[in-house]
Amino acid sequence: MKVYCVIGDQRVERSLSPIMHNSVFSEYGMNCKYVAFRIEPADLENAVLGIRSLNISGVNVTVPHKETIIPFLDGLSDCARGIGAINTIVRDGPTLIGHNTDVGGFGDLLDKYRVSQHNSDVVIMGAGGATRAVLRSFIERGYEKVSVINRTYKKGLELTAKLGGLAIPLENTTEVLRKATLLVNTTSVSEAADGPSFMETFSNKAKFDKLRLVIDINYGRKTNFWASLAENNGAGFTDGLYMLAAQARQSFRLWTGENPVIEDFLRPVGLVK
Ligand code: ATR
Repeated sequence: MKVYCVIGDQRVERSLSPIMHNSVFSEYGMNCKYVAFRIEPADLENAVLGIRSLNISGVNVTVPHKETIIPFLDGLSDCARGIGAINTIVRDGPTLIGHNTDVGGFGDLLDKYRVSQHNSDVVIMGAGGATRAVLRSFIERGYEKVSVINRTYKKGLELTAKLGGLAIPLENTTEVLRKATLLVNTTSVSEAADGPSFMETFSNKAKFDKLRLVIDINYGRKTNFWASLAENNGAGFTDGLYMLAAQARQSFRLWTGENPVIEDFLRPVGLVK
């Protein structure tokens, strides 16, 4: 039997990746199993040694390890090297190569919602590991108006200097938000309890004239600040479940060479029948 896994901090225990991948493995009649492992940051190097010695066939990497795992791998895809974050490890014999399928997964989400670079004024909230893939996806697709707003302005500046887009300080967002047509949350804050002061600061500035769609790349929250914000402004909303399925599909293709359709990953989590 081949074993695949996802590694992350305590949040990995809520991941829907095992349900998606195990369902597709069984649909394709493959003798494979996908499991979630909680790994603390201090144990990351040992975890990679474990992946090597246990001959794990493929790995997904989630928060907070997407950037810090890179020094322990043997190589990176061009895309992963360009953004400095990975979410997938592909084994090639003894060699572990890092890839980033979040970029393509987010692109698939933009396609699903028929978002195009024409007439789009994009605001991305956040400047963490997940933001890199989202920002790269927009820049790759030729979006010209992409602003990055983050609690820590300096991180926004560093990110945009590397990847493109324009960093805006949190206190200075009124004009940018007024013109935004698409708002993407890539912070880990999706409900008030996650970051009350951040939400308050943001809410005070959040007057939109043109908002059409809000994307929160998180999923599985009972109440969602970004969903309410979309509703209050007459905009559409989607969470990160479709993106999760889309990136899972791309990882699955890299690992197995099989080419399942997106519905195979959406069905196990109830997004299609
Ligand atoms: P990652 O591994 O992706 O960097 P993270 O450390 O959880 O994950 O942070 C992701 C993003 O969420 C960052 O933009 C972070 O803002 P900072 O750069 O200022 O740390 C943002 N974030 C996390 N908790 C937050 C909070 N309570 N309020 C505002 N932003 C928050």
